[in-house]
Amino acid sequence: MTEQSDNQLPVALVTGATSGIGRAVALNLARDGFAVIVHGRDTTRGASTVAEIEANGGQARFISADLSDAEAVNALAAQAGAVDVLVNNGGISWFGPSADLEIETYDQLFDSNVRAAYQLVAALAPGMAQRGHGSIVSIDSMAGHVGLAGGAAYGATKAALTAMSRAWAAEFSPSGVRVNTVAPGPVFTAESKRDLIENLAGTTLLNRGAQPEEISEVIAFLASDKSSYITGAVIPVDGGRTAV
Ligand SMILES: NC(=O)c1ccc[n+]([C@@H]2O[C@H](COP(=O)([O-])OP(=O)(O)OC[C@H]3O[C@@H](n4cnc5c(N)ncnc54)[C@H](OP(=O)(O)O)[C@@H]3O)[C@@H](O)[C@H]2O)c1
Repeated sequence: MTEQSDNQLPVALVTGATSGIGRAVALNLARDGFAVIVHGRDTTRGASTVAEIEANGGQARFISADLSDAEAVNALAAQAGAVDVLVNNGGISWFGPSADLEIETYDQLFDSNVRAAYQLVAALAPGMAQRGHGSIVSIDSMAGHVGLAGGAAYGATKAALTAMSRAWAAEFSPSGVRVNTVAPGPVFTAESKRDLIENLAGTTLLNRGAQPEEISEVIAFLASDKSSYITGAVIPVDGGRTAV
């Protein structure tokens, strides 16, 4: 964690923190001493994440914004203000025959998973650079690194996010801002995707899917000063799936 001179906690913005991996990241970062901005759309689940953080003695507030709406993302960045850590986690996936993907869904995938992250980094990273410190962690996927049948568009959004992250590392790290991506394998989050996750779980070297906390621990490490010499990296957290 970065020390603040006026006893205020350092601030972390976590997109998509109302469920799954993002929720686990928000809880983790709050435990590590960050005031967490919990982002999502669902106000009830947002309030529940904030309540759990506060019950554990941490600080959090919720901001609602639709990542596929460019104006809403700009408003989110403005409401967040200066942040020390940005976790680009929020996003959607779609798997199915390529011929079945509606063009609107294709656009939503890229708007939510790629453009929103671009907007947030464009809005928030210059301030980090000016202050001389910051950590940006974006959530890629093993789908961005191996060909998964039915995952062409989703995988492309994740590969794009990682390509942008490398460029951001080149742009901002000379000013003290570290920029990394974490590429999870199958993680048990949304119940509606359990069958897909179970199938992919069987393709990993560890022969199982991950729990959200197994991903959030790595993200929290990258957010912290413990990873002070890591930037421009892609960390696979995929049970060995992309190693073979
Ligand atoms: N689960 C996996 O197996 C896996 C594997 C590799 C990578 N990932 C990546 O990890 C990240 C989190 O995935 P997850 O499985 O934890 O997902 P999840 O449980 O479905 O949660 C997704 C989060 O993103 C938010 N979100 C989605 N679309 C949004 C939009 N248009 N505007 C605002 N918020 C939006 C949701 O907020 P609301 O519901 O409040 O709108 C929710 O908080 C994603 O980027 C995903 O691609 C997941």
